[in-house]
Amino acid sequence: MSEWTDIIEGLADHIALLKELGERTVEIDPAAMRAFAASGGPPVLSAAPALAAAATRAAAPVSGPPAGRAPAPTTSSARTLTLEERQKALGEIAARADACAACVLRQQRTRSVPGQGNANAPDIMFIGEAPGAEEDQQGLAFVGAAGQFLTKMIQAMGYTREEVFIANICKCRPPKNRTPQPEEMQACLPLLREQIRIVQPKVIVLLGGTAIKGLLDTQVGVTRMQGQWTRYEGIPVMPTFHPAYILRFEAFKDMAGLKKAKTEVWHALKLVLAQLGKPLPPPAAKK
Ligand code: URA
Repeated sequence: MSEWTDIIEGLADHIALLKELGERTVEIDPAAMRAFAASGGPPVLSAAPALAAAATRAAAPVSGPPAGRAPAPTTSSARTLTLEERQKALGEIAARADACAACVLRQQRTRSVPGQGNANAPDIMFIGEAPGAEEDQQGLAFVGAAGQFLTKMIQAMGYTREEVFIANICKCRPPKNRTPQPEEMQACLPLLREQIRIVQPKVIVLLGGTAIKGLLDTQVGVTRMQGQWTRYEGIPVMPTFHPAYILRFEAFKDMAGLKKAKTEVWHALKLVLAQLGKPLPPPAAKK
């Protein structure tokens, strides 16, 4: 019975998380429900069908918009944009980021970092926190140490950096790489939201707690969200740890922590590949 207790507690936790994220209903696959019931599920099944529904939902790839959440009220996502339209629109956003003085980050940064990559409905859009020192110099997202680890993650999934889109919640570097303040994130988020509507990625991967908090407007932490599907304007979203978090284990020579964090991130990335219908790349590609 303790195995069932673990499962039920896990499902209850998952349902609580969905509730916090604004979900009010869960999708039920009748065939899966029948199979689950036939397998001699726990007595609680008949009393709490929502738990079984959550199990089905958690195990299945995300498909279709979640019940109860309205589609994005945008004009640009209503139709597929051409690559030229996308590039033009992204160029305009980059110019706005460059000219923006909506928060104090403008004062100390060298260059704005709008984000870059495949703008043409890529499989994946990675979203981090804010530029660091190297990004601030180059005007490109994730080109420093954390960026090198992100490159490894991307390659391990069988992609190149050019095939995905990479952006941040904030387009300007916070002084001394501090975490962006809520008002700085709020000032910058409209640019990112527009970028997402223009780029139209198939999946969004959120890197770390700030990206999760910023885009999803939730107080649920990365530890609970990591590896759990959610959605943003109908797009499947996979939250996971920030590459810099993983590098910290390396810096402190915490090999057990490093292995655990890498395993958890890789698990999340494998869920993304499954969602995209992509086969796992051969192990050699995974560093
Ligand atoms: N960390 C981020 O979150 N984004 C970058 O672009 C670089 C480091």
